[in-house]
Amino acid sequence: MEPDFWHQRWRENRIGFHAKTTNSLLEKHFHGLALAEGSRVFLPLCGKTLDIAWFLEGGFRVAGIELSEVAVEQLFEELGVVPKIATVGALKQYSAPGIDIFVGDVFALTVALLGPVDIVYDRAALVALPPEMRRRYAIHIPEITQFAPQFLICFEYDQSRMNGPPFSIDPQMVETLYSGTYQITLIEREQMADGFQGKFPASEAAWLLVK
Ligand SMILES: C[S@@+](CC[C@H](N)C(=O)[O-])C[C@H]1O[C@@H](n2cnc3c(N)ncnc32)[C@H](O)[C@@H]1O
Repeated sequence: MEPDFWHQRWRENRIGFHAKTTNSLLEKHFHGLALAEGSRVFLPLCGKTLDIAWFLEGGFRVAGIELSEVAVEQLFEELGVVPKIATVGALKQYSAPGIDIFVGDVFALTVALLGPVDIVYDRAALVALPPEMRRRYAIHIPEITQFAPQFLICFEYDQSRMNGPPFSIDPQMVETLYSGTYQITLIEREQMADGFQGKFPASEAAWLLVK
């Protein structure tokens, strides 16, 4: 997907991927990971997900990166927080107490800019990327987070039913992308009640990746 694809989606408010509730697998399983209060959660390709508010309300700190400045402006507006905005290298950084959101290409984010990360929360990020970019991403994210564990949520469906995004990421693909870097555990696979947007059967699988 070229950047313009996403910029256009945000400009035209065609953001069907933006869930109207907190992710149910996140709510169900994240506390089981027993992270310390104040742990810093990194959300690559974060959009303006409501999961960010859930983390902040739970006493976590949040870092994220998102290509679209429209999305990031809306995120802070909806959080009711006025950010400080700075330019950092090729990126912009929107910050407020407990939250840093970078605006720009995830591949321009570095360890130094991002800072310490306790866990990566990947929902609708890996699945948003076409195969060649996905492989690059699966190398880049562990590098910039210094191999922090990941809570990864993937869609699984028959890829012949639809061209992504979101793409289907089956267990074999998770294994191919990440088994060289992490130990992989399936936390839960949940059938989506109405399938994918009511069109065909689909599941969401939550994975824990630990170095
Ligand atoms: C499918 S959406 C998911 C957003 C969010 N994770 C959620 O759960 O609502 C993917 C997001 O990734 C952003 N994006 C796509 N390519 C990106 C890139 N190379 N760097 C940073 N963000 C990117 C898009 O603008 C879009 O908001």
